[in-house]
Amino acid sequence: AAAASFAAAIPAFAAKPLVIGFSQVGAESEWRTANTASIKAAAKAAGVTLKFADAQQQQQNQIKAIRSFIAQRVDVIAFSPVVETGWESVLREAKNAKIPVILTDRAVNVGDQSLYVSFIGSDFVEEGRRAGHWLLDYAKKNPNKQLNIVELQGTTGAAPANDRKRGFAEVIAANPKLKIVRSQTGDFTRAKGKEVMEAFLKSEGKNINVLYAHNDDMAIGAIQAIEEAGLKPGKDIIIISVDGVKGAFEAMAQGKLNVTVECNPLLGPLLIKTAQDVVAGKPVPKRVTVQEGVYPADLAAKELPNRKY
Ligand code: AHR
Repeated sequence: AAAASFAAAIPAFAAKPLVIGFSQVGAESEWRTANTASIKAAAKAAGVTLKFADAQQQQQNQIKAIRSFIAQRVDVIAFSPVVETGWESVLREAKNAKIPVILTDRAVNVGDQSLYVSFIGSDFVEEGRRAGHWLLDYAKKNPNKQLNIVELQGTTGAAPANDRKRGFAEVIAANPKLKIVRSQTGDFTRAKGKEVMEAFLKSEGKNINVLYAHNDDMAIGAIQAIEEAGLKPGKDIIIISVDGVKGAFEAMAQGKLNVTVECNPLLGPLLIKTAQDVVAGKPVPKRVTVQEGVYPADLAAKELPNRKY
């Protein structure tokens, strides 16, 4: 007991808490809010000091935040990159300063894979493929229909936008009746999703059969635009989106959204554990993916009470 009180009285003797600098994309979606909450809660539960910076969807802000974490000599830098490219120099600065970098949620496109120690997050190409497979099945059940698709892409240059587009296109290529007639970014937000859907409706009119939105928030914004245009979302226009947030389950329960492909935002505990292992010198996996499902509307009411985000 004497030793313990001595240690508490002299800070140099107390165990030094792990310090993680985390640069978050922003607060653009329900998914992102759940992701931030998961990371903050996991850090708190583990007694980790989290220096949190919100980049407001700007790569420049993330680069600034990472440089500031290097200057502060944090133990680990973690970030969810807004876009895939343009990271080589700042990541090299972190490496030269001997600060390990963990990627969460989104990938970076770098030639030198030693610039980060681990990447924890979903397989976005697979999510796009799952969305495509749902539509292929729907088309099989409605064989006489030509299905014109409009696509709301995520943030231009972001890994989930690039990969969800690619996975979906790859799968729907199997059926020539499925055709993407318009595709534009809605920046992963409700406001932009609504605005771009309004423009799609204006230019395509009743020609739109399917909406594929790269996240639930854009789909929810688009639902509003579709209703304001006097059409029935989920019926006149079939809607497929990605994430599986509560808002999507509510929309499905109301018959306004047909399916959501899950993307799990609860990455906090894995991130903190990986950071602790890295600092303890333990080997960590270079790539960690998470288990995810597909939720069509007929499961929505049953699943809604079980949703954690
Ligand atoms: O990177 C994950 C994506 O980013 C989520 O699908 C989206 O909602 C978020 O903004």
